[in-house]
Amino acid sequence: MNPNLDRLQTYPFEKLRDLYATDTPPADLPEIKLHIGEPQHPTPQFIKDALTANLGGLANYPATSGSDALRQSIADWIARRYGIPAPHVNEGATQVLPVTGSREALFAIAQAVIAPGHSKPVVISPNPFYQIYEGAALLAGARPFFLNTTPENGFRMDWAGVPTEIWRDCQLVYVCSPGNPTGKVMPLEEWRTLFELSDRHDFVIAADECYSEIYFDETQPPLGGLQAARQLGRDDYKNLVMFSSLSKRSNVPGLRSGFVAGDAAILKKFWLYRTYQGCAMSPPIQAASAAAWRDEAHVADNRRLYVEKFRQVTPLIARHLHTAQPDAGFYLWASVAATGLSDTEFARELRRQYNVTVLPGSYLARDVGGINPGRDFIRIALVAGVEECLEAARRIDAFCSSL
Ligand SMILES: Cc1ncc(COP(=O)(O)O)c(C=O)c1O
Repeated sequence: MNPNLDRLQTYPFEKLRDLYATDTPPADLPEIKLHIGEPQHPTPQFIKDALTANLGGLANYPATSGSDALRQSIADWIARRYGIPAPHVNEGATQVLPVTGSREALFAIAQAVIAPGHSKPVVISPNPFYQIYEGAALLAGARPFFLNTTPENGFRMDWAGVPTEIWRDCQLVYVCSPGNPTGKVMPLEEWRTLFELSDRHDFVIAADECYSEIYFDETQPPLGGLQAARQLGRDDYKNLVMFSSLSKRSNVPGLRSGFVAGDAAILKKFWLYRTYQGCAMSPPIQAASAAAWRDEAHVADNRRLYVEKFRQVTPLIARHLHTAQPDAGFYLWASVAATGLSDTEFARELRRQYNVTVLPGSYLARDVGGINPGRDFIRIALVAGVEECLEAARRIDAFCSSL
């Protein structure tokens, strides 16, 4: 067997299952699940209709590059959303590829990018982070190098803190903006620094933007990687691949649909990798996805629900835990330091006494430089309905008041 499989870490939700294993939550309080980033708003009917209206496509093998209609709908969405020219979608030199959810693509990009002959390739990742980045690096034979994002550094990746020898061996950098779990959006100046470093050290930037459509001010959508590149005159998106997804935007985590866009030379190789991996998107899903990317009304409706939830929930949580509305995304990243409980004790007791599940921050981070930057935090995913999230906030308030 591949020995790198033994280097994979236990997934956060499995750790949570173990943490809860011996407890019985109160039977009279219905469970409220805020530990997993699975949107629970209803899937729009027109997406379901597009799926079922295209079941005839099951009779065909799909192409890895997706249908022309899907690639065009994605390119048009990028142009509208980011105010930039539509990326090229021509076969063979495309700047857009559909993927079956951003997760598989975030994993696959490392397998395609990392050069196996290289003695000790490095993949840089934020810490805390989405665990796929680490697994992707390890299974590609690379070693992850983590950059702590903490309240002290404004939840930014401190590029200046990366040693020269790490840059020398670096082949891939993951960034997550808006961030999971911090909700931090990377500003233009940080993109400028990252692009300059990528030019100097020749690494690929994998920009995970699956939370880009959950934001709170309709006039200020989060800056995207392609948009930043354009604003900085990088019209060819050199060394940049961005990852986007319908899962959170359109409440379809079960559809498994997203896209990658950016540097055509990288995408050409990535396309080749993907033809062997065999992850082409099913034709009915392509049709439903194209319909979803063409519509913005349901996304704006979705955002209104998140605005309402953060408006009602944040002040209740902030009475006890240090937290604030994020730049974007649907997570509250809340410090439990003032409660005297560790993140795991807090999560466990909250479920045992109030039947609300949240994720201990340390499950999302690694010990680096003598600290685990998630240790004092819990991640609260405001994915349930408005009333349910508010009820959860009241229970958290009661729990904290009792401490
Ligand atoms: C940061 C981040 N990236 C990517 C994903 C994967 O999303 P999907 O595969 O549904 O597009 C998730 C899912 O929760 C996530 O939190």
